[in-house]
Amino acid sequence: ADTTVYRAGTTAPVNIAVVKYWGKRDAKLNLPTNSSISVTLSQADLRTLTTASCSTTFTEDSLTLNGELSDISGARTQACFRELRARRAALEASDSSLPKLSTMPLKIVSENNFPTAAGLASSAAGFAALVQAIANLYELPDSPSDLSLIARQGSGSACRSLFGGYVAWRMGEREDGSDSKADLVAEASHWPSMRALILVASAAKKGVSSTSGMQQTVATSGLFKERIERIVPDNMVAMEDAIHNRNFEKFAEVSMRDSNSFHACCADTYPPIFYMNDVSRAAIRAVESINAKAGKTIAAYTFDAGPNCVVYYLEEDKEAVLGAFSETLGSTSGWRAGVGSQSGVLDETV
Ligand code: PMV
Repeated sequence: ADTTVYRAGTTAPVNIAVVKYWGKRDAKLNLPTNSSISVTLSQADLRTLTTASCSTTFTEDSLTLNGELSDISGARTQACFRELRARRAALEASDSSLPKLSTMPLKIVSENNFPTAAGLASSAAGFAALVQAIANLYELPDSPSDLSLIARQGSGSACRSLFGGYVAWRMGEREDGSDSKADLVAEASHWPSMRALILVASAAKKGVSSTSGMQQTVATSGLFKERIERIVPDNMVAMEDAIHNRNFEKFAEVSMRDSNSFHACCADTYPPIFYMNDVSRAAIRAVESINAKAGKTIAAYTFDAGPNCVVYYLEEDKEAVLGAFSETLGSTSGWRAGVGSQSGVLDETV
């Protein structure tokens, strides 16, 4: 009998949206109410490292995250395992010389190089790495866009972490979700001077999960209708244009307006949801004063479903931006990151 342990690994980057995904039209398939765009951060700074192995000697599927056994019974993780196994099984059916990896228990080991609970889109890098690592193990021929369909079912934002650079998630229109996937807007090298400063306003685990926050917003916010019908479609066009033309002022304005619109919808739910805190609002004021002092927009804030602030700026404005932040928010910790490239295969021992 085949007792080989087959193994492959990968890393996947964190992405931070500049036009936000907020709202599901199908919660089971993670189909969004709107398209979104993100910037992939450099893996030198923030990434998930995942190894996938399988063997007939393993007893059951397992996932270890930062040294702790994690629950894999959830529908999202199960959907990823099922889809990847089905693709491997199709390869095995067409080539009988291939080992039957699709029938073996999987062992996934994953490590973040940043705190998981800090609300830093860890689910995005996590599911992207899980899907890419198993795809590498199974030697699937699928493109990043194909794999983004699977990662999306783990966590919506994860579909954008299959690519480096500037990435769009097209909402699609089909009911089965087969056209709801990520594609590349521009390579990281197209606009390499983009930087992100991540300010940790609170490292506590977020209060309202993105899934329940989205559900409540879709169900009770009147503003949300305006957001998905008019604001986001306009922001998508303006943002792609800003990226293609490397127009930072436009990129920044759309990022800030889109973040504000998303958080306004959260405040418009009943009861309201507040993700930002006093430190978050101080960061917004700091960005405003940096821009006022510069006489043009050189910094942009954006907030996900938590209080931490991500500030985008260009390398050439680093002194003005970082200097101002160390003055006003001296005690706040965080990271500096550049724009990164695609997830990579580390080792393949199949
Ligand atoms: O992928 P999820 O379900 O954790 O949702 C992410 C939602 C935001 O981070 C707030 C926005 C986004 O587009 O990443």
